[in-house]
Amino acid sequence: MEIITAVRGFKDILPTETAKWQYIEKIAREVLANFGFREIRVPILEKTELFKRSIGESTDIVEKEMYTFLDRGDEYLTLRPEATASIVRAYLEHAMYAQDPVARLFTIGPMFRRERPQRGRYRQFHQINAELLGLTDPRADAEVILMLMQFLMRVEISDLHLMINSLGCIECRPAFRKALSDFLAGKEEHLCKDCQRRLSMNPLRVFDCKTISCIEVIDHAPQILHFLCPGCMDHFTRVKEALGIFAIAFEVNPKMVRGLDYYAKTTFEVVTEHLGAQNAVAGGGRYDGLVKDLGGPDIPGIGFAIGLERLISISPIMDERFLISPQLFIAALGDKAQKLAFSVCNRLRTTGIKTEMDYSGKSLKSQMKRADKLSARYALILGEREILENKAEFRDMQKGTQETIGLDDLENTITKIVKGS
Ligand code: HAM
Repeated sequence: MEIITAVRGFKDILPTETAKWQYIEKIAREVLANFGFREIRVPILEKTELFKRSIGESTDIVEKEMYTFLDRGDEYLTLRPEATASIVRAYLEHAMYAQDPVARLFTIGPMFRRERPQRGRYRQFHQINAELLGLTDPRADAEVILMLMQFLMRVEISDLHLMINSLGCIECRPAFRKALSDFLAGKEEHLCKDCQRRLSMNPLRVFDCKTISCIEVIDHAPQILHFLCPGCMDHFTRVKEALGIFAIAFEVNPKMVRGLDYYAKTTFEVVTEHLGAQNAVAGGGRYDGLVKDLGGPDIPGIGFAIGLERLISISPIMDERFLISPQLFIAALGDKAQKLAFSVCNRLRTTGIKTEMDYSGKSLKSQMKRADKLSARYALILGEREILENKAEFRDMQKGTQETIGLDDLENTITKIVKGS
């Protein structure tokens, strides 16, 4: 019979990898805590409407990539393609702003996008997502970017390239949009079908398109930075100044519009050449209109998400660093010895000593082979004869030395040696 495999684009994170994931998540939690961010856990399933209203109807994510289904015939639900919308929904639903409009929130978990799977692109992937709500100050933008870069440095990621841009606000974006529409008018035949269709709804999306002919057209298009109103211009200048204080290197990329509609003012992305085509490790930006668009008060926000699969694939931290081998392996031969081994093994575990034993009852030699394979630090050998003589052999597997110990007070003796080493 054929085995059932995982769904395409969905992948297992194996025990050999999970320790690295845990370590990286731990560092993230530390860095986030230093900046005052608190964890929020939001559902994986949301009403489809939430993503349509926040990410935008004419984005790739909403048009093509969401896992959406009609739940029992009466409500459309979607597996979250990102977390910002859910966090803002929760912020509103629980009226967090009433107590304090400033909220620093983070969440770590899986997201779902039905993209074409390839290296660094999965249909279920994980993000570390941070959102700072309630602050318009450009220092908030810099703080969030600084936090992101600090974290990436802590997990030893090198060759990072930070790109920033400003997408303007509701004041200045319409003029840019008009200029862009005028520029694209008459060039429709050079655009792909998607861009042609979106032209009237959202011409900005052409910047995001990966089709060569669209890239060629957009190369000469007007740039948003030339259209910024004085407020947005000043904000952007101050973000750059604040980044300068921390000597964070960046490049202004006026073509970076990001694939989600909720952004306004600052946007940013961190890319690396180690990732191939899917080169973005993290992306984010300011979304000053989103809280209001989702039915709340006029509260600004800024945040980012880091793609964990991509981050982990380029982090030089070795999986071996986290190998957990037993401190003690018990090899036991015969019924009496096996019984004693079973109780000693489980009692030592409760005292915090990583202990393993073999249930096979195979020869001592083969049990010791297993101790070796597991890289156990010590081995306790309970042979039939030893048990009769009320003693056991205790081997230091690293040094290759062995001593005889008494069975009375066995656990204490072992604990002293193992914890003392
Ligand atoms: P995003 O740029 O769509 O932004 O995703 C952020 C990161 O998630 C990407 O840079 C990438 O590392 C990772 N990622 C995205 N799609 C995939 C995929 N199919 N497979 C593997 N990794 C992927 C957002 O999601 C925004 N919510 C970020 C944000 C937060 N903006 C403001 N606050």
